[in-house]
Formats: sequence, C-alpha cells, structure tokens
Amino acid sequence: MVDSSDALPDLRDPNILSIGYNAVYTATPHSATLRRLWHELAEGLDFPEDFGHISFVTLPQLRRIAAELRLGPGGTLVDLGCGRAGPALWVARELGAQLIGVDFAAVAVEQAGARAAALGLAGQARFVVGTFADTGLDPESADGAMSEDALQYAPDKRAAVAEAGRILRRGARMVFTAFELEPGRAAGLPVFGSDPVDDYRPLLSEAGFAVEAYEEVPGWPEPMTATYSALVSAGGTLAQEMGPQAAAALLTELSMTLQQQPYRRRVLVVATKR
Ligand SMILES: C[S@@+](CC[C@H](N)C(=O)[O-])C[C@H]1O[C@@H](n2cnc3c(N)ncnc32)[C@H](O)[C@@H]1O
Repeated sequence: MVDSSDALPDLRDPNILSIGYNAVYTATPHSATLRRLWHELAEGLDFPEDFGHISFVTLPQLRRIAAELRLGPGGTLVDLGCGRAGPALWVARELGAQLIGVDFAAVAVEQAGARAAALGLAGQARFVVGTFADTGLDPESADGAMSEDALQYAPDKRAAVAEAGRILRRGARMVFTAFELEPGRAAGLPVFGSDPVDDYRPLLSEAGFAVEAYEEVPGWPEPMTATYSALVSAGGTLAQEMGPQAAAALLTELSMTLQQQPYRRRVLVVATKR
C-alpha cells in the first residue's frame, strides 16, 4: 500500500481531475494488477510493455498515428495530455522526432522524463507541466501534434483545439484519438468540464485546421467496457496495491463511465494546420 490517507475524492473540488490523475500516476508503479489488466484488455498483448499507457491506443492505431503525422527526423512533435508518454515516446523513437510532452499532472511529467531516460531517449524528449489550453509552448514551434484519449477531459475544448492550432506550423498535422461525449449523459460529470463536445470537427475548422480524416474507431466500446469492468471487480486488490485515495480516484471515474455511458464514440482524427 502506498498511501495511508483515508481521504476520498471530493467531487466538488474544481481540481479533482488533476488531483486524481496525480494520485493514480503516483500509485500505478505499485499496482501489478492495474498494469496487467490494462495490458491484457486495453493495450493488447502485442503492445510493447516498455511503452505502456493508460489510454486505449493499440499498436496498429499507434502505427497509423505515426504514419499520419508525416513528420521527418528531427521534427518537433508535441503530445497533448501525454501522461507517462509511452505512446509518444514510441512514435518519437520510430520517426526520430524531438518530443515535447505536455500534461497538467506533474507526477506524470516527472515519470515521463524518467521513462525517456530509461529507454535511452532522454536526448530526444522533454516534458512540461501545462494544460491543453495553455501549453506554454511558442507559437508555430511544432511540426506535428498527437494526443491519445485525453482531449475529452479539456474543460474548454474550443480553447484546447485553438491552442493546438497556435503552436503548430502551417502544414503541420495533428493526429489524435478522443472520445466524443453524449452531452445529455456527460452533464454533471465533473471530469469532462462544462462543454461536452459530440463532434470535434467544428472546433478544428474554427482553429484553422483542414480535417483530413475523422473516423469512428471500429469496436471501440469493447476494450473500454472490458478493462473498466475488470478493474472495478478487482477494486479490493487495487485499494491494497495503490492505496485507498488513488484507487478511489480511479474507480470513481470508471464506475461513473460504466453507469452513465457518457461517450458517444471514440474517434481517430487527422487534421492539417492551414
Ligand atoms: C487517459 S489519460 C491518457 C494519457 C496518455 N496519453 C496515455 O496514452 O497514457 C489522459 C491524460 O490527460 C491529462 N489531462 C487531463 N486534463 C488535462 C488538461 N486540462 N490539461 C493537460 N492534461 C490534461 C491527464 O493528466 C492524463 O495524463
């Protein structure tokens, strides 16, 4: 057990999402059960474990993201909501890109840096604490951007997409997976902010992107339902391995998602900055 605190998530706290993610990232290295179930049910057994993640990106999807970025060696790649940056480090290694990962969870940013060093990629990657709407990066400084199953959490999704447009050079591509939200079902769930988006295309157009591809990921609900159900069933073990606070943060979101089904679709999107 890594956290002896009995404090459970306060659903009214505006910082509940970053507090929850920091708690989960702190505890993840201590939970073999979380890692095992995520690898088996979400990543897929062919996903390289050194690059493990907490999204639903499979190896074929990651190969597609890498190809769609059309990024040459030495190009600057930004990952928005990078977490521990497994997928982004895999893509950066594959393409020879210089990676900048951005996440609002300071614990994830620190772990991503340590992971890059352990993988021998420290010279090719740096990580910063920032939000979707305020990355702190320079205008037109990136040659490509990716994001895996994170943008649905942006409290202001219009501002998040506009910020991606601001940091990308003309002609650069943004390739991401994200969940579209069902506004009626996501309403009142604190983690999705106050602007549930059921289609990212209008926001992309407004921010100066041409949408090249916008596809529902086939069979998207099954890995999510299987992973979340297995983790909820393993709640007692997770509380022991992760500590009660981190387990509660994780299980609260998973249970809410299973019960309220706030997701309309999971989409893969390719957009070019005009
Ligand atoms: C489902 S996780 C995916 C992480 C990573 N992309 C992966 O594949 O493991 C979503 C990530 O979005 C980050 N996040 C959520 N809201 C954010 C915000 N407003 N600004 C920046 N990062 C945010 C979380 O800290 C978390 O790391």
